Amino acid sequence: MTNKPVGSNNQMESDVYYPSPEVVAAAHVKEYETLYKRSLEDPEGFWGERAEELEWFQKWDKVLDDSDAPFFKWFVGGKTNIVHNAIDRHLKTYRKNKLALIWAGEPGDVRTFSYFALNRNVSKFANVLKSMGVKKGDIVTIYLPRLPEQVIAMLACAKIGAAHSVVYGGFSVEALAERIEDAQSRVLITADGGWLRGKIVHLKDIADEAMARQPTVETCIVVRRTGQEIYMEAGRDYWYDDLMSLPIASPICETEPMDAEDMLFILYTSGTTGRPKGVVHTHGGYMVYTYTTLKYVFDIKDEDRWWCAADPGWITGHSYIVYSPLINGATSFMYEGAPTHPYPNRWWQMIEKYGITILYTAPTAIRGLMRFGDAWPNRHNLGSLRLLGTVGEPINPEAWKWYHTVIGKERCPIMDTWWQTETGGFMITPLPITPLKPGSATRPFFGIDVDVVNDDGQPVPPGEEGYLVVKTPWPGMLRTIYKDPDRYREQYWSKFGTMYQTGDSARKDEDGYVWVIGRMDDVIKVSGYRLGTAEVESALVSHPDVSEAAAIGLPHELKGNAIHAYVILRAGVEGSEKLAETLRQHVAHEMGPIAKPETITFVDGLPKTRSGKIMRRLLKARALGLPEGDTSTLEQ
Ligand code: PRX
Repeated sequence: MTNKPVGSNNQMESDVYYPSPEVVAAAHVKEYETLYKRSLEDPEGFWGERAEELEWFQKWDKVLDDSDAPFFKWFVGGKTNIVHNAIDRHLKTYRKNKLALIWAGEPGDVRTFSYFALNRNVSKFANVLKSMGVKKGDIVTIYLPRLPEQVIAMLACAKIGAAHSVVYGGFSVEALAERIEDAQSRVLITADGGWLRGKIVHLKDIADEAMARQPTVETCIVVRRTGQEIYMEAGRDYWYDDLMSLPIASPICETEPMDAEDMLFILYTSGTTGRPKGVVHTHGGYMVYTYTTLKYVFDIKDEDRWWCAADPGWITGHSYIVYSPLINGATSFMYEGAPTHPYPNRWWQMIEKYGITILYTAPTAIRGLMRFGDAWPNRHNLGSLRLLGTVGEPINPEAWKWYHTVIGKERCPIMDTWWQTETGGFMITPLPITPLKPGSATRPFFGIDVDVVNDDGQPVPPGEEGYLVVKTPWPGMLRTIYKDPDRYREQYWSKFGTMYQTGDSARKDEDGYVWVIGRMDDVIKVSGYRLGTAEVESALVSHPDVSEAAAIGLPHELKGNAIHAYVILRAGVEGSEKLAETLRQHVAHEMGPIAKPETITFVDGLPKTRSGKIMRRLLKARALGLPEGDTSTLEQ
């Protein structure tokens, strides 16, 4: 790529990086403007053609049904199953023997699965689930570390028409319990433990505590990973390996034909208030959308070895470790542990060893690795890489440039993809042919009509900050919030009516490039993970010494944002260093280590509006020494 500074009359980053002729020559899509225009003028034609590239048991009658907006339906009348396209159809081709999944464990063990082997495992486990009484429409909760069984379990559920609810393995007791409760899962899949930085994360102990709080679980299937002794409850807990060796685990299992709009999974994510919301995605639209976005944006080819370094427990992993790479017939690489264990070259070593061609990760990981210097990556041959990607939060130009120079050797364009749990797949993103500006996710994907608007929903001029909205529906969009359609309407469609409100603020520059600034609501992105202030606060308040709590996010060099909490103690309880540490540990126990507040400040009162709402904006302004802004609603 060449670096050519261009004149710019806005304050945004002004370097532009152009793709090399080799990158352009290799790209699936060679021209953006015409196809983008067409995709907006004729979305049904555009998405119908994409869907035709996949296999359907029965073709749809209508691509988009918007008669009950904002409850949009896609590929109405069509019948398919995402697993049919992710696995079954490849078995009829040379891909049967191709590697679908390469998995590397933190202690150094490696497991590989061809499409044939993946199908065998998925089919066997699907039969196990059926024998446990799991039926079409049930919701199975999966709480596993980054293991092949996580992928197998997700696909096995989808294959038989059950929905999965994956809970990130870094979450803890209450986070797991409330997700089990909301989904009313009767089956939970977990492991004895997981490896992280050479230590065991005791997953089954956490699962036991969560099951004690939520007795809906009748069957718990346990994958053996770390091997230590654990509690197994007779009649409830079964070892995965034992079940897989029984005759019921037959390797032959029909893939269930599903309506395009049938639920594929629920994924809980943090919102502005209260409990996490169950974002619902479907078999048809999500399948077409994730397939198309990965194909065009990362230019997936048969010879690629694709590494999405996220966790399958988050949307990035659902879409781009599990479903979309498999639908595209790619080889997906997955690593169990932390990037810096035992040394900060672990990732670079694996890129070299496995010949990874595309690496997709988060700015926080890039910043974390950057601080160890160039010598670690420079010890390795990273010549197999051809494209890089990032997701989760805005990337600071310094990290972008390091990624581009030291990792990509100035050859590999960086796809900065903006999207959300709710959107299913990439929304604003470059293509390999797009001129790049470090820190901008560039332009919308095909079929995606985004804008930056003011409070009245009117577009703001270039360079001005506003609300980021999406003006038309797309196949990968969430369909609703599980069991709470009113909240779906309220959360995403109440402010601007026909425009989807993302919750982010952004600017557009003169070239139409979008610069996402960050969340405008009470969602905090910590190391790219999405957490709600409300969840951290309720974890704090569940401690007997705490009367009230407020959590805010403040900038952090590595994590992007870090959580800071303000706590009012119950009468008679004295604040101390020791109590602050106890409360931090309590949050880690209830929510997970990622939610642990960086600092806890004991206070006598919290700024509130006259209606009693905590003014977190004010706490934040005070902590940063910024002007307090409009305080007219502040209770005096
Ligand atoms: O604030 C945006 C930020 O992450 C939010 C969505 O978080 P989540 O649902 O957990 O999904 C993350 C992975 C898709 C967005 O509202 N975000 C995501 N990608 C970017 C980003 N902010 C800036 N640039 C990005 N590329």
